[in-house]
Amino acid sequence: GDSDRINIAIDGPAGAGKSTVARMVAGQLGYVYIDTGAMYRAVTLSAQRLAIAFEQESALSELLSGLRIKLEPGPNGQSIFVNGEDVTQEIRSREVTRQVSYFAASGVVRGVLSAMQREMAARKGVVMDGRDIGTHVLPDAELKVFLTASVKERAARRFKELPADQAISLEQLEKEIAERDALDEQRDISPLLKAHDAIELDSSYMTIEEVVASIVKLSRTKLAEA
Ligand code: DC
Repeated sequence: GDSDRINIAIDGPAGAGKSTVARMVAGQLGYVYIDTGAMYRAVTLSAQRLAIAFEQESALSELLSGLRIKLEPGPNGQSIFVNGEDVTQEIRSREVTRQVSYFAASGVVRGVLSAMQREMAARKGVVMDGRDIGTHVLPDAELKVFLTASVKERAARRFKELPADQAISLEQLEKEIAERDALDEQRDISPLLKAHDAIELDSSYMTIEEVVASIVKLSRTKLAEA
């Protein structure tokens, strides 16, 4: 084809392996990986620090207008900076994880972050993961993948990744994942939804390597068509 780069959207629920898969696909293709969940987390953390609640639209607008969010390849995946401060670790705290779905349901927040994400993808060659990338942020992405896995499998994976000092049971984790899925699927603005033209992959019984290989293969097909 004429074009040598495409955009790849990877959507799906929490814990399906999107970020690992997206990062590896980007690495193999020499593309830029963009973790949009990290952006929602960064906004949540910034709001929490200023005690701004998700319903406080004007305070949130003002906060957002002063936020410079930067994503950079880091030693363990992607590093994220807010106004120059590295918040990579802090955005994974349980406090942020517990509240991020509420901030992600805010139209003010989604509007600003979607615009930033489109800008980041404007020159193509991007692998972007999130919930609404194929449906809303990049509806013209050449390749859309909807990556799923059972709640049980996703909870088991998250459990293994947890730092030892975060005491939480597997059952509690399953419950929190199911709750977050429900919030993400039921919100009014850009809910988690498979785009009609997305290819669905269930990673419950696939290894990460198998998922990555199938997406890279699909992308080569799309590149040939582009
Ligand atoms: O993928 P994650 O767990 O880091 O995402 C954090 C939250 O942000 C999660 O509740 C879903 C939400 N999110 C979203 O609404 N839209 C996106 N494009 C990415 C994440």
